Amino acid sequence: MPQPAITGHGVFTPPEVITNDELVVAFNAYAERWNAEHAAEIAAGTAEPKGPSSSEFIVNASGIEQRFVMDKDGVLDPARMYPRLPARPDEAPGIMAEMGLDAAQKALAMAGRTGADVDLVICAASNHERAYPAIAIEIQQLLGAGGFAFDMNVACSSATFGIQAASDMIRAGSAKAALVICPEICSGHLEWRDRDCHFIFGDVATAVLIEPAEAAQGPRFDIVSTRCATQFSNNIRNNNGFLRRTHDQMEDRRDMQFMQNGRKVFKEVLPLVSAHIAAHLQAEGWGAEDLKRLWLHQANKTMNDFIGKKVLGRTPDPGEQPNILQDYANTSSAGSIIAFSLHSGDMAAGDKGVICSFGAGYSVGSVLVERQ
Ligand code: COA
Repeated sequence: MPQPAITGHGVFTPPEVITNDELVVAFNAYAERWNAEHAAEIAAGTAEPKGPSSSEFIVNASGIEQRFVMDKDGVLDPARMYPRLPARPDEAPGIMAEMGLDAAQKALAMAGRTGADVDLVICAASNHERAYPAIAIEIQQLLGAGGFAFDMNVACSSATFGIQAASDMIRAGSAKAALVICPEICSGHLEWRDRDCHFIFGDVATAVLIEPAEAAQGPRFDIVSTRCATQFSNNIRNNNGFLRRTHDQMEDRRDMQFMQNGRKVFKEVLPLVSAHIAAHLQAEGWGAEDLKRLWLHQANKTMNDFIGKKVLGRTPDPGEQPNILQDYANTSSAGSIIAFSLHSGDMAAGDKGVICSFGAGYSVGSVLVERQ
């Protein structure tokens, strides 16, 4: 069976940045407005006033310093508090396809390939901008790729689950060159009016190209093994869906955006992920000392520090477990791939690492790679 390998990767970074300070100014203006508008209910004790956010809380609780977004003005408008991304005509490329295409072209250029070489496109993301046709098929057409394409969603673990699906197809011979593309417009599902989570997410797109190792034209990362696991939980949930109209729930409702019980997620996901990586390494006969790098899901710095320490049995040295969340915030499925893409170029032949994502579902995916 062919050995699958990552031969190219790329990141599309949106042009607009929101710093914590900018975000907090907008949120606090919104909260003051809301409190003034609801002064009577607050005085009567039937509504809770909205408390202010702070940059200090955000950076201490999460490690996030800024986020990239597809539209800054709409998010920072206290009278609006969500992005302005106007609907495009059906004849024009969709916004997710456009972002994904940019990342895909970077991955193809790195591998010395063109779209015509690709015969599988997977668009793996937490949200898709329409029900159908699949975003992946639109990207396939924009690339001039052949074969087939499909969308998949495992929330924050979409990238690693997509890499497993693509690698297995390369092994089986049903694909020869597979793109796993993660365009994440997290600003669209984030509730920017909720101080508990308004700082968490950002927008981005990533792509990895997976080919049989023997077809690689340059340096590559062999995908030695993949492992995916899921376990149902309501602690990260978004109830928006195609049955919304039938439920007579078209009003502005909190549960139609991202919701989480952050503390529980923290407590429950940490042991799950640490045990998952340890078992995966053991199954492949790898020890923690074999790992040159951990590219983890980028949700929370403390969470990553904990996982890194648990997996390695010591505090990771600087650079061993690179974080990008200070610049990008949580970008859902794309986070571990941004970390991989920006912090893998210096690795030498034989160096080993693990890409690991985790999040809603719950879901955990790990990919063991070796530089060649
Ligand atoms: N500014 C100021 N204070 C805030 C605030 C903000 N933006 N947001 C919350 N607070 C307050 C809370 O109201 C709470 O006050 P209280 O103690 O009086 O009730 C206090 O700060 C602590 O809030 P809490 O939510 O318990 O903070 P935390 O330390 O758990 O950090 C998260 C919050 C979300 C950063 C953290 O729980 C986390 O990262 N969890 C896992 C997230 C994750 O991986 N999610 C996956 C999504 S894909």
